[in-house]
Amino acid sequence: MASANPVIKVVAISGSLRKASFNSGLIRSAIELSKESVNGMQIEQIDISQLPLLSTDLIVNGTYPPVVEAFRQKLLKADSFLFASPEFNYSLTAPLKNAIDWASLAPNCWGDKAAAVVSAAGSFGGGRSHYHLRQIGVYLDLHFINKPEFFLNAFQPPAKFDDDGNLVDAEAKQRLKEILVALRDFTLRLQK
Ligand SMILES: Cc1cc2nc3c(=O)[nH]c(=O)nc-3n(C[C@H](O)[C@H](O)[C@H](O)COP(=O)(O)O)c2cc1C
Repeated sequence: MASANPVIKVVAISGSLRKASFNSGLIRSAIELSKESVNGMQIEQIDISQLPLLSTDLIVNGTYPPVVEAFRQKLLKADSFLFASPEFNYSLTAPLKNAIDWASLAPNCWGDKAAAVVSAAGSFGGGRSHYHLRQIGVYLDLHFINKPEFFLNAFQPPAKFDDDGNLVDAEAKQRLKEILVALRDFTLRLQK
């Protein structure tokens, strides 16, 4: 008898440190959706705001600072990753790049795992940050789902988020759910 698919563990990272961040709101919505209507996945958001700016001088006798080590351990235990990546000056944000770089050091915490990227930003909805992130993923050996894509123009009426950065747009929630399903299915395919 075929065994049921296991529950995959997804680590979610927002590239914004802002309290009412739209991108963190996308992750909160993804967590809700995963509990309500996407079987077989568990999403945990990881805070990257306490990671120091990377300097290899902070690695002492091969040991990472405790906050970095704790972050890396969570990634190593994850089956896949969900990035919510705001666009800053046509690219991903500095905090997100810093977190990615810390976890890229040996042993690479990203290698051979599935990932998806979503974003809320200005006119193109953050799309340009996706392409830089995907390029970084080539070297890290991350496997991004190609489709569907999720870009959300956060500033075009009607409002997509409330004042606390919670996603309130039903169509966007549906598209976000499709990302989660695609990420879950691709994660399971990679693990076969
Ligand atoms: C330094 C900076 C650069 C930005 N550059 C872009 C940009 O290139 N493209 C864009 O669509 N939005 C840009 N924005 C707007 C952000 O995408 C927008 O503020 C978004 O809400 C940030 O994500 P958050 O709500 O998760 O914090 C920029 C914002 C900042 C602070």
